[in-house]
Amino acid sequence: MVAKDWLFSQLECQTQQRVERARHNAQCMDSAGGRDLRRASLGWKFFVLVLIGACGIYMCFARVNQRNFQQFSSTQEVLENSFCRTPSNLSLSDFAQHFPRPLTYQRGICICTPVHYFVIFSMQRSGSGWFETLLNSHPNISSHGEIFIVKDRRQNFTTISHTLDKLYNLDWFSSSAKNECTAAVGLKWMLNQGAMDYHTEIAAYLRKRGISVLFLIRRNTLRRLISILANAYDRERPIGGTHVSHVHSKEQAKRLASYKPTVNVKYLNQNLERYEEISNNALQAFNVTRLLVIFYEDLVKEPQKLMEVQEFLGVPPRKLESRQVKIHTGPLSGLITNREEVYRALQATKFEGFLREDDP
Ligand SMILES: *[C@@H]1O[C@H](CO)[C@@H](O)[C@H](O)[C@H]1NC(C)=O
Ligand SMILES: *[C@@H]1O[C@H](CO)[C@@H](O)[C@H](O)[C@H]1NC(C)=O
Ligand SMILES: *[C@@H]1O[C@H](CO)[C@@H](O)[C@H](O)[C@H]1NC(C)=O
Ligand SMILES: *[C@@H]1O[C@H](CO)[C@@H](O)[C@H](O)[C@H]1NC(C)=O
Repeated sequence: MVAKDWLFSQLECQTQQRVERARHNAQCMDSAGGRDLRRASLGWKFFVLVLIGACGIYMCFARVNQRNFQQFSSTQEVLENSFCRTPSNLSLSDFAQHFPRPLTYQRGICICTPVHYFVIFSMQRSGSGWFETLLNSHPNISSHGEIFIVKDRRQNFTTISHTLDKLYNLDWFSSSAKNECTAAVGLKWMLNQGAMDYHTEIAAYLRKRGISVLFLIRRNTLRRLISILANAYDRERPIGGTHVSHVHSKEQAKRLASYKPTVNVKYLNQNLERYEEISNNALQAFNVTRLLVIFYEDLVKEPQKLMEVQEFLGVPPRKLESRQVKIHTGPLSGLITNREEVYRALQATKFEGFLREDDP
């Protein structure tokens, strides 16, 4: 009869909440009494203990997994996160600080030096090559160039994210790679190199991983167009024997600028509109990230702008230098064959300002 009572009370106990089980079991045991029963309920105690333990382990794993997928894209970052993320290692900043652990080498004494991830978005012939050489003249900045010029790397978002994972883990090697004390790492990404095709996924990736965006735009899209035409011509019939997109001497620049393209005015307005549209779409697409818009013209005119860029990247500011020389300089009339025609096409349109002679 006592055993029956015990069984009954146990059944009742079973219906209680999981968390309360241990306490209830203790109560049940007290009311039941008897040596045999105590031994039997010991089994129950053990069972409940295992249950609670299993529950705890499960919850623990669930949390780790959740963190894994919500905040980090690779186990690598979970690792780096736990190792260096102490208050003494984190400086005051409004951007995410990372502590990558490269697979191919050790970061040595800089293992706990925070790294800032960035990307430069731009369009061809907007001065991004020159801008990047300036950044790479800084000892703590590694900008690896147009890595997505290679089609295989931008087949789909999977290949894109794998490429970026490797780059941001400091496992990418190019002439721009610095030493283990790199404090800012990134790339130059032309909008037509898959950046807009997968903009939703890429924006989410940038945001998730705390990657800052530098957006380099050329205001005077007419001069950009002239640069495109001249560059395309030189690609076909290299003026200096071999085709070059960027030059390092005044003579070379002069030689390239000796070719004066003729601007097709029929589609001129449309072309300029199109550039503006692409820029605006991209700005909107990547607006979810920490973003700095830089105009090429400002960089040329005000060296102070470069200080702002370095501040944005969180590196100690210094004077940056580039060996690249500007190809097309001076008034429009010296750059194209049909200046009058272009003037007529753009007068009284919103692009009229591009005709100004002093524009860089
Ligand atoms: C960063 O943290 C590590 C481990 O806690 C410590 O050894 C190191 O001195 C710290 N570095 C800095 C720059 O504070
Ligand atoms: C920049 O690089 C130099 C040379 O490698 C290193 O000594 C210094 O600690 C780095 N500075 C930062 C802020 O990472
Ligand atoms: C992405 O492209 C790679 C390389 O072509 C291919 O192996 C992979 O299956 C593709 N993944 C998806 C999700 O389409
Ligand atoms: C980005 O979005 C904010 C509002 O969310 C807006 O105020 C800002 O103008 C946008 N910037 C660009 C460049 O589109």
